[in-house]
Amino acid sequence: MLEELTAEVKQALAEAEQLIAAAKTVDELRQAESRLMGKQGTLGKLLASIGKLPAEHRGAAGKEINLAKKAITERFACVRTVIEQAADKQAAVGAQAYDPTLPAPVVPRGSVHPVTAVQWEVEDIMARLGFVVVAGPEMETDYYNFEALNIPAMHPARDMQDTFWLTNGWLLRTHTSPCQVRAMEKLGPPLRVIAPGRVFRYETEDASHGNTFHQLEGLMIDRRISIANLIGVMKLILVEVFKRDIKVRLRPGFFPFVEPGFELDMSCEICGGSGCATCKRSGWVEILPCGMVHPNVLRFGGIDPHEYTGFAFGMGLTRLAMMRYGVQDIRGLNSGDLRAIIRPEQRNGPAIIEKNE
Ligand code: PHE
Repeated sequence: MLEELTAEVKQALAEAEQLIAAAKTVDELRQAESRLMGKQGTLGKLLASIGKLPAEHRGAAGKEINLAKKAITERFACVRTVIEQAADKQAAVGAQAYDPTLPAPVVPRGSVHPVTAVQWEVEDIMARLGFVVVAGPEMETDYYNFEALNIPAMHPARDMQDTFWLTNGWLLRTHTSPCQVRAMEKLGPPLRVIAPGRVFRYETEDASHGNTFHQLEGLMIDRRISIANLIGVMKLILVEVFKRDIKVRLRPGFFPFVEPGFELDMSCEICGGSGCATCKRSGWVEILPCGMVHPNVLRFGGIDPHEYTGFAFGMGLTRLAMMRYGVQDIRGLNSGDLRAIIRPEQRNGPAIIEKNE
């Protein structure tokens, strides 16, 4: 008895599919559905038969028939929607209609380069401390790049700067520090300036060194400026950029234009301090070389070192961008590789590109 019923249910389902295949319009579909469900329809008859079945079969049979009804109703509804949408589209195309409710096509948008993004960020932070932005030329003279920074012609410290010399005797600035003396000459003390910019080194490239990168020079000169001011400002910059306390270490560093001089390293954000290619396995990244402005440099800038003192720093903007945005290889930043130069908040996919060492 139940087998017989199953065959009839199957028959109803098959019939439904036939009717659906034959219907061309939503109306035809509706008619077909009500015919199938109606008193004379295959499914309608089945539904009516439930009540007449022997009590012991009624439950199972009723369940089976109702499941079939549900499946058929859903199938009709689904096909109806498809036909309706197709009809709409046809009507729209036919009338050349414009549908203002359709979502606009996605236009690919450019984004600010990670280095520019951190530069702006640091500029904002420094502006709040009363610093102004100054600029200097990328093609510099020996005087501003070396001489006035207490690095005389025969000084061994010139070896620290692998320089691109130009045929006219000038050079591509090896750091943003020439902006220090230019600012002193131009603005005089007291002074709070930052100078972001591109610098060039005749250097072999690796994960953390490029021949062209960005620094942000900072210089503050006033009466009674001390190392405490220097460290306070350094820490503030890092905390503001990373929005949390960053592990740093301060160690002595030699730069002829500062005395005393420091290297401020931050714990490598790529590996969390355990050591990777970016931090040369040390767990630390040199990010903020700094120090108290050397009296000779103040003199070159026309400032009396007995009256004024100051601090200077040369933040590695490119490295800061790498730490901030998790870019493992500096070469990615100078390339067209969108995985490296689109900032994480603007990208959907994996962030980091890794190059073979
Ligand atoms: N100009 C130095 C460099 O590029 C960094 C520096 C700047 C150090 C200011 C101390 C003070 O290596």
